[in-house]
Amino acid sequence: MNKTIIVSNRLPLQVSIHDNSLKVSPSVGGLATGMKSVHSEGNGIWVGWSGIPENELNPELSREVQNKIKKEKCVSVPLTSQDIEEYYEGFSNRALWPLFHYFMEYTNFEQKEWEAYKRVNEKFAEVVIDNLNDGDTVWVHDYQLLLLPQLIKEKKPNTTIGFFLHIPFPSYEIFRTFPWREEILTGMLGADLLGFHTYDYERHFLSSVKRILRLDVNFNEINFHDRIIKVDSFPMGIDYSKFHNAALKHHSDSYEKSELRTRLEEHLVDDKKLILSIDRMDYTKGIPNRIKAFEYFLDTYPQYKEKVRLVMLAVPSRSNVPQYQKLKRETDELVGRINGKFATVSWTPIWYFYRSLPFENLIDLYISSDVALITPIRDGMNLVAKEYVATRTHGNGVLILSEMAGASKEMNEALLINPNSYEDFAASLNTALTMPLNEQETRIKLLQKRLKRYDVEKWAEEFLKALKKTKEVTSNNI
Ligand code: UDP
Ligand code: G6P
Repeated sequence: MNKTIIVSNRLPLQVSIHDNSLKVSPSVGGLATGMKSVHSEGNGIWVGWSGIPENELNPELSREVQNKIKKEKCVSVPLTSQDIEEYYEGFSNRALWPLFHYFMEYTNFEQKEWEAYKRVNEKFAEVVIDNLNDGDTVWVHDYQLLLLPQLIKEKKPNTTIGFFLHIPFPSYEIFRTFPWREEILTGMLGADLLGFHTYDYERHFLSSVKRILRLDVNFNEINFHDRIIKVDSFPMGIDYSKFHNAALKHHSDSYEKSELRTRLEEHLVDDKKLILSIDRMDYTKGIPNRIKAFEYFLDTYPQYKEKVRLVMLAVPSRSNVPQYQKLKRETDELVGRINGKFATVSWTPIWYFYRSLPFENLIDLYISSDVALITPIRDGMNLVAKEYVATRTHGNGVLILSEMAGASKEMNEALLINPNSYEDFAASLNTALTMPLNEQETRIKLLQKRLKRYDVEKWAEEFLKALKKTKEVTSNNI
């Protein structure tokens, strides 16, 4: 039977060593959480990195890692510490990630890291080809593997290859500054179908292809070496029923409340409200901005002092990259300063957690919060915003969402804000906290209806259907 091979830098599970034994934990981030549901139901395999450098494993542990991974229908690509430093922390997260999110001042282009990026993409290609049979489909994901489609196409020209980018594709004016721009675009064009979260990213990509590679682009089709490559937008959804049903379960009378939920609810008396934010600790997420805007809000609307609490979960991410370390220090300082400025004996305005939480605790946070404050400076999609809406089983709750998140394109019923404007921020927070229940319900219901219809399963199905179609068109043209 033909299978689909999913390929991404990170597998849905992460292996680490604690006291000489292996620990397996779920991966964080939209790609892993979203694709996990797609993968668990299909008959395919998932190729990616285990989370542990190969050179830190003795042969016995290495076999153990392989076995754990195999049980989850995954195959690992062995990466050394040098690969991780140069390809992952270096080129992927110090060049591509900041540039594609419009943080040009954070980009660092190093020839050595580019060489590592090529080398590691080739390692991925080898593992994919070793696992590939005639008729299989390959679905490559995200910015760490932009060269992979072409590397597979060269060796296996008959393989159907899809590529999906989970982050923004920047405008031509930004992308053109990239030293290896031709190579990156050519690498991506090894795919038969390229998918983006939004129409804007798709347009930016096509414009770069036209202007940098000078290729023929006809509407959303590219003519390249006698192949027709399709480009389209597919906004990624969430596993709606997983989140919705978990929230229903947490609300049922027989469900025993966790300590976290009990503590959260202690604040929810006398009309007091909880405001929630959840992100990976990443400078694209606008965490310092949000804290400063919250300060501005408390200064501008002092009636909310002692009445609201911001619960902020920041999940550790890429902590070996200097910009992320700086962000962590800045966040710690800001939270300290603002809590120091406003706290009273009975009230701390910000509850700040720097860790990842198990799924059931995430549900506790979502269902206990009156407002979700999701305000990235730039974000490919943002699934947290969608997860919050899916868990609002009582129909109440308000989502404040940054216009700079891909998700804002499909979530018009949220309060959309420019995250750089403190006035906008504070006024929306006031609107959210005073919004009549019937208005909250109308907005949430409309959002839920859309999220339920276009969930992650549907998203994957549409992508794979479109990918299959590109193959049919190609074979009809031969
Ligand atoms: N998440 C998680 N553990 C946590 C906090 C968050 O697994 O402790 C998940 C969250 O449920 C969401 C994902 O991480 O599915 C974050 O995805 P999003 O698209 O919002 O942002 P990304 O991290 O991909 O930039
Ligand atoms: C974003 C990226 C993913 C990445 C995730 C977590 O969602 O699009 O490719 O896996 O962040 O980041 P990490 O560097 O820990 O894999």
